[in-house]
Amino acid sequence: MTIDERVEELLQSMTLREKIGQLNQAGTRMNCALPGFEADIDTWVSEMLQGKLAKEELDRRLAMCEENLREDEVASGELGNFVNLYEDEKIARVQKAAVEDSRLKIPLLIGADVIRGYRTIFPTPLALSCSWDMECVRTMAHVAKREAYAGGVNWTFGPMLDIARDARWGRIVESPGEDPYLAGRIGETLVKEFQRKEEDGCRLMASAKHFLAYGAVSGGQDYYTVDLSERQLYETYLPPFQAAIDAGVGAVMSAFHDLNGVPCTMDRWLLTDLLRGKMGFTGFVVSDAEGVRQCVAHGCAKDEKDAARLALLAGGDMDMSSLDYAGYLEELVSEGELDETVVDEAVRRVLKKKFEFGLFDRDYTYDPAKIAEVTLTEENRKCAREVGKRSVVLLKNDGILPIRREVTRILVTGAIAEDRQALLGPWAFTGSAEPVVTVVEGLRSYASEGVDVRYVRGFDVNDDRSDFAEAYEAAKQADLVIAVGGEREYMSGEAASRANLHLAGAQEEFLSGLVKTGTPVAVVLINGRPLAVGCLKENPGIQAILEAWHPGTECGNVIAEILYGRYNPSGKLSVTFANEAGQEPMYYNHPNTGKPGSDFKFTSKYQDIPIAPLYPFGYGLSYTTFSYEDFRIEQETLTVEETLRCSVEVENTGAYAGEEIVQLYLRDVTASCARPVKELKRFEKISLAAGERAMVRFELPVSEMGFYNRSCDYVVEPGEFRLFVGTDSERVLEKTVQVVLK
Ligand code: NOJ
Repeated sequence: MTIDERVEELLQSMTLREKIGQLNQAGTRMNCALPGFEADIDTWVSEMLQGKLAKEELDRRLAMCEENLREDEVASGELGNFVNLYEDEKIARVQKAAVEDSRLKIPLLIGADVIRGYRTIFPTPLALSCSWDMECVRTMAHVAKREAYAGGVNWTFGPMLDIARDARWGRIVESPGEDPYLAGRIGETLVKEFQRKEEDGCRLMASAKHFLAYGAVSGGQDYYTVDLSERQLYETYLPPFQAAIDAGVGAVMSAFHDLNGVPCTMDRWLLTDLLRGKMGFTGFVVSDAEGVRQCVAHGCAKDEKDAARLALLAGGDMDMSSLDYAGYLEELVSEGELDETVVDEAVRRVLKKKFEFGLFDRDYTYDPAKIAEVTLTEENRKCAREVGKRSVVLLKNDGILPIRREVTRILVTGAIAEDRQALLGPWAFTGSAEPVVTVVEGLRSYASEGVDVRYVRGFDVNDDRSDFAEAYEAAKQADLVIAVGGEREYMSGEAASRANLHLAGAQEEFLSGLVKTGTPVAVVLINGRPLAVGCLKENPGIQAILEAWHPGTECGNVIAEILYGRYNPSGKLSVTFANEAGQEPMYYNHPNTGKPGSDFKFTSKYQDIPIAPLYPFGYGLSYTTFSYEDFRIEQETLTVEETLRCSVEVENTGAYAGEEIVQLYLRDVTASCARPVKELKRFEKISLAAGERAMVRFELPVSEMGFYNRSCDYVVEPGEFRLFVGTDSERVLEKTVQVVLK
């Protein structure tokens, strides 16, 4: 029997309530009526995310609550899928209720946010995108997949493919950066690896989220409104989703916000006409958590029942956490408000994925020993370390890095340096802080003999100045200070937008005092988003800045290997660093405007900050240097059917072996719509020994040099195009080509 036939057969045997159960996704229920604790769990989680409640305290309280796994609902067929259930043994229990106790024995989809690993935590997605390295991306997905699958998860709520151009938005940390092409390559790689079936059946269904343009929330304020032209959607926000769809992504998650006035959760144009009709998506759509009932707060549904009807009719197949499909669909059908065929179609889509992803073929026996075998292994940690090293970006280096032999007294300062939870970072709920290697541990374990690594807390992300003096005294006794600051884990991620992009608290003040000790300072930034760190860039006493992001479980080892020069940094920014929050959204691929920014007053710029970004897209230093020469275009006049071929000579002109990410950009000089000043079209990561040269070649079909015109049709308009090749989006060599009709 084909999958379609199996789906039909099953569907015929289902009651309406069982059908609705397949569209229902819920978490476990908590009975939190504990003596002395009036608040509910959502409040505690929210307090934890804001840093007001320690994770340990939350865990302690949760452990005292009574958890209801909803096994009865599963057994009765009314609950067909789970969200964010991470404990292996509990997953096994609910799955058992489904495959043994329910009438039709339909296995559950167990969905979780496996976005940067499962138990072994990798760098944040934004950091990973700074590797520009698809092998790293694949490795993360592979390790995450093996660990999650072993634990019983069969569906990941990833990849997150929201183009993010505004660092105020907390969820920029989960994004693949600001560039549609790079994000598309990452999305495609993640989907393929998560979903690739291994010999033992291991695979996860992926979901591309959040559809659509969540990264464009006004002012960078989370959950806020988005108003965008259709052209902009096609050009900037759709490409990574299209790449995921072309790679066969099983599910798409709709976004929380309203797009051009309609909440994405209930937007039929978005979820049906565009997603299925134009983009060719054939999987199912899941709402974001409680997205269905939020349509009421949006003011677009009169109550939860209305929201359920509108969301299902729009093409939202599964309700995550609202319980409104479960609560109202049956009533809506019996009242004639909703045709049962609409329910059937959604159920078909869900069941099809359950068959395709092998849920009916899996052995659900719970075997903790087998799980332990693949979880947090040395090999997995090594992968996280290798990927972590490639995700770090060296922003500034006046020559103090890598740390020289003569440096024998190192002072590490900054509370974050020893805080496992902060180093682990956001969106790592499936992981734990305990196995995280701290910066101090890493530096000590990689230190050569005779090197003393001392730690003094010094400063945190708050206004506490009580440890400043001790750190300054210690700095005077050291040859080098490594100051670790930035953001704690709760300062980026969901519901963590910031209006101010400076280092929080008294960090800037601490650092400016630190350099006065005269000891060279290297700053290691642990943070989720690009920060306005101009004061560090400009301060000559701060001789190096390493953007480490949140590297995850292997944090300290990653940082130590780079600082000691065992690994030569190769990461490049996948997002622009603005000078100030007021300059956001700031991104490299903007149109030229009629008055491009210059020294002349009447041009597009702010009068109180530089026109240029603090650090441009594509930027990142190495311990070696690379020169670019001899940029050649094979054929300078091309038709739309032809392929442009070009090459450039890159030489490692420094003293260390290193990796370089060679970037190719394009500009359509004159077109019917204003085109970006540059658009990334290709890139390649190469590895060169000191003194070695390589020729890097790129091929770009002219058909990929087009854009969406005023009527949203994709066109390649003939005329002049400029090509740029270089080490970042600003330092480039340039050539011109002509595209002709015939
Ligand atoms: C809400 C988030 O927006 C989404 O990205 C996530 O997958 C779900 N919660 C489930 O945790």
